[in-house]
Parts: sequence; C-alpha cells; structure tokens
Amino acid sequence: MCGIVGYTGRNSCVEILVDGLRRLEYRGYDSAGVAIQTGDDIVVRKARGKIVRLTDLIAKEPVSGTCGVGHTRWATHGRPSDENAHPHRAGRVAVIHNGIIENHRTLKERMLARGRAFCSETDTEVIAHLLDEYVSAGLTLEEAVRKAVAELRGSYAFLAVTDREPGTLVGARMNCPMVVGLGEGEFFLASDLTAFLSHTRDVLFLDDGEMVVATPAGVRITDFAGKARERSPQRIDWSPAMAEKGGYRHFMLKEIHEQPRAILDTLAGRMRPESGEVFFETLPLSLEQITSLKKVTLVACGTSWHAALVGKFMIEGLARIPVEVDLGSEYRYRDPVVEEGTLCVAISQSGETADTLAGMREAKAKGAISVSICNVVSSTIARESDGVVYTHAGPEIGVASTKAFITQLVALYLMALHLGRERRILTRREISLHLIDLSELPRKIEEFLKREPEVASIARIHKDARDFLYLGRGISYPIALEGALKLKEISYIHAEGYPAGEMKHGPIALIDERMPVLVLCAKGESYEKTLSNLEEAHARGGQVIAVATEGDTILREKVKDVIYIPSCGRYARPILEVVPMQLLAYHMAVLKGTDIDQPRNLAKSVTVE
Ligand code: F6R
Repeated sequence: MCGIVGYTGRNSCVEILVDGLRRLEYRGYDSAGVAIQTGDDIVVRKARGKIVRLTDLIAKEPVSGTCGVGHTRWATHGRPSDENAHPHRAGRVAVIHNGIIENHRTLKERMLARGRAFCSETDTEVIAHLLDEYVSAGLTLEEAVRKAVAELRGSYAFLAVTDREPGTLVGARMNCPMVVGLGEGEFFLASDLTAFLSHTRDVLFLDDGEMVVATPAGVRITDFAGKARERSPQRIDWSPAMAEKGGYRHFMLKEIHEQPRAILDTLAGRMRPESGEVFFETLPLSLEQITSLKKVTLVACGTSWHAALVGKFMIEGLARIPVEVDLGSEYRYRDPVVEEGTLCVAISQSGETADTLAGMREAKAKGAISVSICNVVSSTIARESDGVVYTHAGPEIGVASTKAFITQLVALYLMALHLGRERRILTRREISLHLIDLSELPRKIEEFLKREPEVASIARIHKDARDFLYLGRGISYPIALEGALKLKEISYIHAEGYPAGEMKHGPIALIDERMPVLVLCAKGESYEKTLSNLEEAHARGGQVIAVATEGDTILREKVKDVIYIPSCGRYARPILEVVPMQLLAYHMAVLKGTDIDQPRNLAKSVTVE
C-alpha cells in the first residue's frame, strides 16, 4: 500500500519527508514524490522508481519549505510512471492518497465536462481537482476537504496542501490508516508512525470519518460534519522494526490481519449487491465471446494454483463453463490442446512467476484469449495478458502468501459471477445473494480473527508433530492443500493435503496416535460424507482437529479440538476456511522458532524455471 507523510513546522521539511518515505519503503512502492509549499506556490518533485531517483531529482532542482507532503506509491490505478506518481497537482492544490476512490470515473467525467484536464491515469487525481474547484471558489482547504469527502466513495487516507494557506495541512481518513505525530511547534501526519518515530513518540490516531487540520500552531480533529473530536495523545514505545509491522511480531501475521481490508479493496467498485450487478470493465471479452466460451484454463503456481483449484468450482458452478486447472510448469511443456473459445486465466500475486508467464504465453500462442489475476500492477503477466483483474491486496512482504491468496479467491468469485450473469445462467437475484455473502466476509473474518488464541492453543498441543494430514472435500479440498503448504513452508513440518474421500485409498495407513489430522468439516454439500471420513481418522487414533461451522454441536461431541468459523454460502466458505489454516501454520512456526517472514530456501517471486 502507498505510504503517506506530511509535515508542518519550523524546520526545512524536504529532508524530513524524504527520511519518512525511506522508513515507509518496507510497504513496497514503485514511485515516490513530494510537494513543498514555497511561500506563494507549491513545488512538486516526483519520479518513478526508488527514492534515490527522487533525491537525485531534488539535488538537480532543489526546493525548500517548512510545510509539505511526501508519498510512496504502490500502483493500483494506472501503471507505475512519473505522471501517475503522487503528489497530484490541480491548480492551487496538491494531494497524496492511499486507498481506492471507487466513484472516480463518475467524478472524472463530471470534471472533464467542465473543461478540466487530467495528467494521470490515477483515481487520486479527482480528489485534487475536486479540492481545487472548491478552493478556487473561495473555500478554505478545510471546507474544501469537508465538501469533497461527502462526494468520495471508497477507501482513503489523503493529505492536501494549497498555495493559499502556507503552513496548513489537511487530511481525511476513511478505511485507511492515518496517524498524527505531535512535536513542539511541528506536526506530522502519516499512514503509519514509522514515518516519524525518530521525531516524536506522541501520537493521535484518526478514526474513519475524521479529518485533521495541522498548522505549526497545533492540530484539530473533527468529524466530516465539522464537529470537534477530542482525543488524548498516546505515547508509543515501539521500536522502528515493530512499527513497520504495525505492532505485529511478523509481516505474515500483519498480513493475515489485513485480510478484511484487502477483501474490501478487491471488491471496491466491482459490485452492487442491491441490484445484483458485477462490474468487470477490464475483461477483454465481448458479450458474444463470453457466451461462446468453450473452456477456461486456469494456470498458476503454488498458493495461486490452489486459488485456481477453488476457481474451477466457482466458474463451473456459477457460469457452467468447463474449467481445466494446470500448474504453469506442467502446462507449458505438455503441448495442451487449445480450441477456439478458450480463455486462459493466469493467476499470480507477483505477476512475475516464470512458469505461470510461460504457461500463459503458450496458451496465447495457441490462440487463447488471456486474462490475468495479479496483485502487482504493471507486472509482466499483467502487461502481457489481454486483460487484467487486479486484486488490490497491497504489498505482501511475508514470503508465505496469505492476503494475496484470499483476494485471488474473491476476484475469481466475482469473475465467475460476471461470466454467469453474461451467459444468463444466473439471475440478478441470485447474483445479489452471492454478493451479499461476499460483502459479509470482511466482518466475518474480523470476527474469526478474535479467536486467534484458540488456534494458538491448538498449535501448542501439536507443536512436536512430525507429520500432519489435512483433509477436505470438493471446494474445501484446495484449502486442505493450502493449509498443508502453509505449514510446510513456515514450520518445516511435513504435511499433506488430501481429498477426504481419497484417504481410504492409501494415506489412512499413516494414521496413528502421533498423526494430527485436520478435517475441513464446515456445514455444506458434503458435510455428512466428510464427517464419516473424520470418524475414520478418529477410529484409528488420529489426533483430529476439526474446522466446523459455528453452532455445530455434533462435532463438539466427537472431537476435542474444534475451530469454529462463521456460517456462509458455498463459494464464500473456502475464503473463510483458509484463515484458520494460516493462523495454525503461523503459530506452529512461532513455537518452532523459524524465520517466518523469510523461510529457508524460499523466494517471494520465482522468476526462474
Ligand atoms: C506460497 C507462495 C508460493 C507462491 C508461488 C506463486 O505461500 O507464496 O507458492 O504462491 O510461488 O507466486 P505468484 O502468485 O507470485 O505467481
């Protein structure tokens, strides 16, 4: 996610802002920039690439002032480029922003019709234009921000400055973090406190729906209606490393906890549950092409391949198109049959995985239309595919994929609904029910995450296990695979995922009292059958851990270790089920003392065969 930092005070701010940006580098970024108030003007310096390119630019064309804003961009709308880098300037105003403005297209059209010219492909630029309209009409920056937030939909933390009000910084927060640092005669605003921890440890956290106005004389927090909000400062005693991880011990844990937010960002602007509408403007398929699709081929590696396996259930079930799923490393060499009417979907967090890229190229060369589901904007796979669906999970730093996976599932669900609607398989009413299920997921995951201590205590029971078996059926089988992969990757415990119905065809021989068997047994179409498999494991002395739906008392009687997840519909279920898998692997690894964020032998992006 983007990093934002702002400063107002007595000191020269360029160094303070650039230093703040360096401390936000861990969040991942592809461009950086600053906007400095210089008396009666605002000067913007920004560049694609690392911060050193920005500092080189500033060295060549120096700028100074005591109030300004700085930004590291992690592209979501528009490729990484100098033009798309923040800050965005419109007339008298410059803006930096973290988040996604869902209604940016509507706002942009309105402003284009009024003769305004846009210089970037970003959603953020509409905020700058909106504010400039109001400031140019005579409003103060604070009043302009208040009017603008009434029109913005989506998630944002943004900071604005205007040449009209030297020394004034105004910020607003909705669903993205913003924190105020309190110095003596100087104030800092940032997306996270790492940016200013070397200057002050006294902070105020903004809540959603709040604005802040900072000048060297002080800070004022109000709600969006202008009513003052009282807040007592807190003293932070985090080390800089702890601050980077938002107080979490590891990036992986932070990213697990970011999942509700990440899902909201994947969904943003893509659905309207009330009317049963799904928007997928980036799919390069006409209605005619969608209706004549004969096959969908999903190509991916590792965790993303598990997402593809779930996607098969979604696309076949909701759009009634046959789906084949393949590993990139296999597909590329097996001389696949690609008929006319084949859609190849490449799924990749990084967008750089060599095998997935080669698989997609193979399908394209044989005549398939290609679409990618990627997290990293303008990555190679995203650029080479005919259309791309970005997951907007934000940078994933932990090597073991968590939030990227969950958002891939959400993107696949949306894609399946879109295809199902266009092919007239699903009615609007049916779509609406699915979208309600999807939109409830962030709250349900948030709720489940409160049960983390229960999962941690189950991890303690099994910390000495040498092998683990994960069982699931149907759409939950890929989640069993993912649970096993997470455990292997970060705790180095041998684990296997198996379709529960296959157990008696072999792996049952492994089960004894030393073997933990995790069974994904939430209520659904194959509940009874999975329950029988659970009994089989139990009867052979296996230490059964069940993942069950809240309120399932049958399981509670049979099994000691039950992890309850909230109830939901069939296609949302894997999205909920994976969260306990991630937490269990994480806590097992904590007990083993492994290097969780950078497990041995693994790389975050595998760009070789
Ligand atoms: C597992 C993991 C890997 C990746 C795989 C593909 O936690 O992260 O298995 O899923 O290397 O990477 P992407 O999705 O970047 O193509």
